[in-house]
Amino acid sequence: MATYQAIQEQLQNHQSTWLITGVAGFIGSNLLETLLKLNQKVIGLDNFVTGHQHNLDQVKELVGPSAWSNFRFIQGDIRHLADCQLACTGVDYVLHHAALGSVPRSIEDPLLANENNVTGFLTMLTASRDAKVKRFVYAASSSTYGDHPDLPKIEDVIGKPLSPYAVTKYVNELYADVYARCYGVESIGLRYFNVFGPRQDPNGAYAAVIPQWIAALIKNSTLSINGDGETTRDFCYVDNVVQANLLAALSQNPEAVNQIYNVALNDTTSLNQLYKMMQQLLMSSFAHIQTHQPKYEPFRVGDIRHSQADINKAKNLLGYAPTHSVDAGLREAMDWYKANLQA
Ligand SMILES: NC(=O)c1ccc[n+]([C@@H]2O[C@H](COP(=O)([O-])OP(=O)(O)OC[C@H]3O[C@@H](n4cnc5c(N)ncnc54)[C@H](O)[C@@H]3O)[C@@H](O)[C@H]2O)c1
Repeated sequence: MATYQAIQEQLQNHQSTWLITGVAGFIGSNLLETLLKLNQKVIGLDNFVTGHQHNLDQVKELVGPSAWSNFRFIQGDIRHLADCQLACTGVDYVLHHAALGSVPRSIEDPLLANENNVTGFLTMLTASRDAKVKRFVYAASSSTYGDHPDLPKIEDVIGKPLSPYAVTKYVNELYADVYARCYGVESIGLRYFNVFGPRQDPNGAYAAVIPQWIAALIKNSTLSINGDGETTRDFCYVDNVVQANLLAALSQNPEAVNQIYNVALNDTTSLNQLYKMMQQLLMSSFAHIQTHQPKYEPFRVGDIRHSQADINKAKNLLGYAPTHSVDAGLREAMDWYKANLQA
């Protein structure tokens, strides 16, 4: 089984064409940065519904003009077959990340979640099938574990979905499986657990906890913790997610294909611990943070109490070896947070 190091060397020496959907978003733009730095050709598809031009501009700055010339951006929509067909032309590997994230957003508007995350997914999968791409890797979600109480979460033991978003992500897995059986499409689904890192959006009603809290700490504004703060999550730095995508796309192990994998750390961090870690890391730069206090609010409807991934399947079949703990990820992203979350 090839290590991540070997995969990166292989890519440096051989150029392929990748399609990243959701390229202007958080995870998509991190995939773009890594692939361009590895001298790959990348096509990006995004409709900017939650993604931003400034994410693409940051990647351009980071990779330099030569690598950037290997990128072609298509502003389009995964719900439109013509956009997906155009984006899939000449593509070897698809990393499908466009979707409407957030459980609360899907509870507000389940039809919109279904259109983007189910119809959009199926449209992309169909275009990928027709373009005969080598592999279709897609962002699945830990929300698929739903109400199943067991910890840590093992891929084939799931419960009932707790939100429309969770339904959409589970349907993705079902369609990917059916497309493998009916049409021989090779796919791999990666169930992410609370990913964080540079370019994750701190703004809006549906922002993820880490950038939202860091922005609140820096600006000395109210920071709300839902519940008693002892809720735990398996937070995962985005570099580990990028690694999982590249391993999944290029794995030569036949047993690894047409499978679903947890992508996280097999670690748990409570919200109170997370708050303290951030406070420690930011204190030296912002004096007011020493006396900052979080505000405890009622538990949020639909939130599960604990979440932790078993990552043995990804380790054993893909060679996944996460490089960043939560603390290491926060430290690595701190310069970005300080530079981007002050306004
Ligand atoms: N961030 C996490 O912790 C997490 C956890 C589990 C799963 N995921 C999944 O990972 C993927 C990426 O998440 P993210 O955190 O980077 O979110 P994000 O919102 O930053 O990125 C999603 C991107 O998809 C684009 N998009 C949405 N609908 C589209 C459409 N119809 N057509 C074209 N583009 C569209 C958005 O504009 C955005 O740029 C999503 O599928 C999400 O469900 C993320």
